[in-house]
Amino acid sequence: MDPTKLIAEARTPAGERLTLTSRSGYFSVGVGRDLLMSSAEHHSEERVAELALADAAAWPGTRVLIGGLGMGFTLRAALDRLGAGGRAVVVELMPAVVEWNRGPLAHLAERPLDDPRVTLEVADLVDYVAARPEPFDGIVLDVDNGPEAFTATSNSRLYSRNGLRRLLAALRPGGTLVVWSAFESPPFLRRMQQAGFAARAVRARGRGKKGARHTLFVGRRR
Ligand SMILES: C[S@@+](CC[C@H](N)C(=O)[O-])C[C@H]1O[C@@H](n2cnc3c(N)ncnc32)[C@H](O)[C@@H]1O
Repeated sequence: MDPTKLIAEARTPAGERLTLTSRSGYFSVGVGRDLLMSSAEHHSEERVAELALADAAAWPGTRVLIGGLGMGFTLRAALDRLGAGGRAVVVELMPAVVEWNRGPLAHLAERPLDDPRVTLEVADLVDYVAARPEPFDGIVLDVDNGPEAFTATSNSRLYSRNGLRRLLAALRPGGTLVVWSAFESPPFLRRMQQAGFAARAVRARGRGKKGARHTLFVGRRR
C-alpha cells in the first residue's frame, strides 16, 4: 500500500492542526488526529444536496445555502440540480480549505467554485446564519461529523434548539434543512421537531449501497 503523503497543512481557528494528505489516489482532511473527510466515500455528501433540493430544484431562482465546502461534493451535487437561474451560497470557515479546493482538490468535484452561480463566503456559518440572511429554499449543514461540535466548539450553537430556530428562520416556508451525520441522534431529531421542523432521519451509505452508514436529518419548514 502507498505511504500517506502530506500535501499541505494549516491551523483551525482554535489552533488545531488541519492537514491535507493523499494515499493511493484518495485525499483526506484531518483535524488533529481525527479524520474530517475523505474523497474515498462521498455518496451521502451528494445525497444531502438532493434531499435539500428535492422540492425546490425546479422553482425559478432557487437559492441553496451550503455549509461548509469540504471537498466540494455537496456543492457539485447542488449545482447539478439547480437551473440556470439558481444560486448556491457556500460558507466555509477555513481559508486553507478554499485554497486546497482551488488547487490539489479542484478536480474531485469538477471545480465547483468556478461556477458563476456560486457565491463563496469565507466565514463562520454560526455568524452567517445569526446575521439573518435572506431566506433560502434549501440549507445543507455538513460542518462536523454530525450534530455535535467537532471542527470548532462554537458549532454547538448550530445544533441547539435556538440554533435550529435560526436555521428555520433562514428558510422560506416549504424549504428544507438537511444535516449530515456519521451517527444517529434521536435527541437531535426531537430538537428539530421542537424547533418547528417536520423532521425525519434518512439513512445513506458512503458508497451508494456500500460503505459507512450515515444518518441524514431532513427538516421541512411548514
Ligand atoms: C465534513 S466537511 C464537508 C464535506 C462536504 N459536504 C463535501 O461535499 O466535501 C466540513 C467542512 O465544514 C467546514 N466548517 C466547519 N465548521 C464551520 C463553520 N462554523 N462555518 C463554516 N464552515 C465550517 C470545515 O472547514 C470543512 O470544510
